[in-house]
Parts: sequence; C-alpha cells; structure tokens
Amino acid sequence: MTEVAKEPRPGRNDLCWCGSGQKYKKCHLESDGAGRTVPRPRPRRPALVPGRVTPARAVPAGIPRPDYALTGQPGGTGRDVKTAGELERLRRACQAAARVLRIGGEAVRVGITTDALDAICHDEMIRLGGYPSPLNYRGFPKSICTSPNEVICHGIPDSRPLADGDIVNLDITIWLDGMHGDCSATFLVGEVDEAGRRLVRVARECLERGISVVRPGRPVGDIGRAIEPHAAASGFGVVRSYCGHGIGETFHTSLQIPHHVDPRARRVMEPGLTFTIEPMITEGRWDDALWDDGWTAVTADGRRSAQFEHTVLVTADGAEILTTE
Ligand code: MF3
Ligand code: CO
Ligand code: CO
Repeated sequence: MTEVAKEPRPGRNDLCWCGSGQKYKKCHLESDGAGRTVPRPRPRRPALVPGRVTPARAVPAGIPRPDYALTGQPGGTGRDVKTAGELERLRRACQAAARVLRIGGEAVRVGITTDALDAICHDEMIRLGGYPSPLNYRGFPKSICTSPNEVICHGIPDSRPLADGDIVNLDITIWLDGMHGDCSATFLVGEVDEAGRRLVRVARECLERGISVVRPGRPVGDIGRAIEPHAAASGFGVVRSYCGHGIGETFHTSLQIPHHVDPRARRVMEPGLTFTIEPMITEGRWDDALWDDGWTAVTADGRRSAQFEHTVLVTADGAEILTTE
C-alpha cells in the first residue's frame, strides 16, 4: 500500500462527496468520523498486542536480490505501462505470488503463529527462485505481511498464535525475473461470527467491483467510485491512508489507486498499464493509527478490517487479473 495525504471533508450542509445528492450530515458525515462522538459497540475481543518477532529469514546466495535488499532503500521509479517483454516477466512473478498466497492460506488454522506462516511462505518463494519482496523493503523485518482483526495492513509476523474466530490477511509479494507480483487475501480462522464473515465477503466484493470498472480511456478514480458505495451500503468504511499502486520493476511506483471516492485520481488508464487494487474495508470507521513499530496500521476504533488484493493489467477492452495460478 502506498500512503497518501488526507484530504479535506465537506461542510455539514454541503453536498456529500459520494455523489448521493444528500447533504453531508445526512450521508457520510457520521461514517467519516467527522460528526459528534457517539458510543460505539466495544470490540468483542481484547485489543491485539504485539508478539515477539524472530530474526529476518535468510535468502540463499543463489537467489537474485532487488536493490533495497542490502540498504533498505528502493531506488528507481519503474515504468507503469509495460512492454510485451516486461509483461511476460511480470506474469511469472504474479503467478508465483498467487501460488504462495494459496499455500500460505492453506496453512491458516487455529493455533498457528503468524511467524510460522511467514516461514512457510518464505520457503516457498525461495523454492520458486524468487526473493520475498517485503524483506528489508524500507526496513520491513519479515518476508510477508500478516494482518489479523483490527490490523489494516503491514502487520509483522510474530509469535502470536491465531485464535478461533480471528480473521487474518496474508499479503504476499515476490520479486521474480526482476518484477514484483503482489496479492493478498483475508482468511477465516476457526468459527468466525456472522459480522466478520460479512466483512470479509464485502471486502472481496469490493475488489471484484474495482476490477470490473477497469478499462482504457477511463480515469483510475472510477475504481474508488465503484468500491466505496458498495462498502457504505453495508455500513462499512474504506481506508484512505493506504491505496493501490503501480507495480513492476518497482514495488510501489508513484501511481496511486485510491479505493475511496477521490477526485484527484485523474490518471487515464491505457492498455499495458499495471497496478494493484487492494481495498481495506473496515467494520466501523475508516480512520487508521500506527503502532510504535512504525509498520502495523490498525483501525483507530479497534474494530476489524479485511482486505483482498490483485495485481491487474489494463487490456484493450478491460482488465486482466495477473495474480492467478
Ligand atoms: N504488499 C504490500 C502492498 O500491498 C506492501 C508491503 S510493504 C512491506 O503494497 F514493507 F510492508 F512489506
Ligand atoms: Co500492493
Ligand atoms: Co500487497
């Protein structure tokens, strides 16, 4: 996810930004968190606490590494519109990412630690000849991101065992053939309550809706315009501080793909353009907070968040999902 600046909200009596034609106070004011403070249901579970993080896993000498593997600092800007040759390499990376996500997801069960899931995914990425993109990316300490319950994204795998009733997102990015392939999914752990299952279902639908409006000649802002009303119809929020991103030789290019309605997202899609769509959907308010570790993004209200992500290609007449097996 790429971090974006906050934008100003409308006044109480202005028209709502979502295009409903209603005044802001009658529409999104409350769910934006801009209204008076109303009592909210307490989260049913105790707040998540950070566990112990094991040392970074080793990458064998024979595996090629991206520029930041040693320094932590990615360089280069990366082209967003791909040549046929670049696309061929990106396809391989994306297919590998999808495979690792499936294998990680199959290992999710009550009692497994997120650190153990990190090990399983790390080993599979190495076996495929790829480098786990998160490892030392801007100093990130592990090979995948694991984000349970109120964690929005960028959770660091640690010693906490998954509990019955948790939801957990696994976000996998692999660097293979000089290209990053990026995808994620949210998994149910044991018996999840109806509200949690609904949140996960709507998050998946939000990704599908975002992909469905991808076509050349349209601005990338169409994606958030398709996603946000669908989340809002279920009373859910859409995270604004993190968005999708251009991807390829660079993990995150300067191209940003907001998942909420954002009139600034004017870049027009064209065939060959590749980016991720990865909406983070919240049970309550969309506001985020950051743990002291500098990575773990959580909901400010402590309620749950779910996310699905694909890397997609703009084709002559729509979108192709690249992160499939
Ligand atoms: N995979 C995440 C994304 O979807 C980015 C993780 S960056 C890391 O953009 F450093 F936290 F790994
Ligand atoms: Co991404
Ligand atoms: Co990702």
